[in-house]
Amino acid sequence: MGEEMVINEYFLKKIEKDAEQKIKEADSLEKLERVRVEFLGRKNGKITLIFNSFKDLSLEEKKKIGPLANFLKKKIIEEINQKKAEIEKETENIKEKEIDFSRPGEKMEIGHLHILSQVEKEIKDIFHSLNFSIIEGPEIEDEFHNFDALNIPKNHPARESWDTFWLKNLKLLMRTHTSPVQIRYMETHFPPFKMICPGKVFRHEAIDVSHEINFYQVEGLAVDKDINLLNFKYIIESFLNKFFKRKIEMRFRPSYFPFVEPGVEIDIKLGDKWLEIMGAGMVHPKVFEAVKYNPKNWQGFAFGLGLDRMAMIKYKIPDIRLFYGSDLRFIKQF
Ligand code: FA5
Repeated sequence: MGEEMVINEYFLKKIEKDAEQKIKEADSLEKLERVRVEFLGRKNGKITLIFNSFKDLSLEEKKKIGPLANFLKKKIIEEINQKKAEIEKETENIKEKEIDFSRPGEKMEIGHLHILSQVEKEIKDIFHSLNFSIIEGPEIEDEFHNFDALNIPKNHPARESWDTFWLKNLKLLMRTHTSPVQIRYMETHFPPFKMICPGKVFRHEAIDVSHEINFYQVEGLAVDKDINLLNFKYIIESFLNKFFKRKIEMRFRPSYFPFVEPGVEIDIKLGDKWLEIMGAGMVHPKVFEAVKYNPKNWQGFAFGLGLDRMAMIKYKIPDIRLFYGSDLRFIKQF
């Protein structure tokens, strides 16, 4: 600008376009301020210079240009203010999204193991400390492993004690206990050994406070040259005292399972009631025969523990169905 500046409508339009463009492009308050100084600065602002040069204009020109220049000045001020508000709002938004490391943290809710999984882990740890291996077996079984090899042939009345969920092809079933894992283990291992196998089992039976249609068992099996029932009693007492962290009142009740001889059931005292927690006994010679061990050379004890019942007793849970409901008020307590 300077002497040669010709102030006419065309010139004002050019300034208007230029200002508009630069305001639009300003993406920070600093840049916007630079644009303001360029056009409205008191000394050299383009608009200011126009007003300063009015003295050189003829009256007629003043009348024509004056209102246009005024209008342009107002327009630029307005546009700058509007843009300023926009930029401020945007920075506000960004600030809100920024992480403020000085703010107190919000407690994140993290999950935890279900009480049954916790109990399973406790049981595994105790048996591990008693030198038992921990193994797994399939939940879908065949008749041979779930029944026949356990000395429960077809039409044996004992099959009725395990109400079975059969799969559609009728050759496979949902295992009714963890005992088939005894067979699977002996088919692939040779004694001496001690193992436990925790897992889910399924029974097509009526549900009540202590019975579910799917629940958990822990199978145990120890085979050696001269294992006897007293060894079993010692192991199971050690286990129960460790698990409940106190001396437990328990009783052995004579019982019958086709795959043991003799067979027992073990109850422990819960308040003034006895709750059955496991079946057990000395491995039946027929079972050894099924896995091609010579029954004359080997002896063993086996047990099947109800894991849900152990959890119920330890944590004073009155109803087995609570484990399988999804009531978080229950689940979060443990
Ligand atoms: C058996 O399942 C045998 N396989 C146990 C066994 C293994 C005996 C090795 C001898 C040698 P039983 O059906 O009694 O036995 O079940 C064992 C335990 O599982 C019971 O003592 C009980 O604690 C638990 N149990 C049985 N049925 C249910 C059920 N419907 N809901 C919850 N727990 C159950």
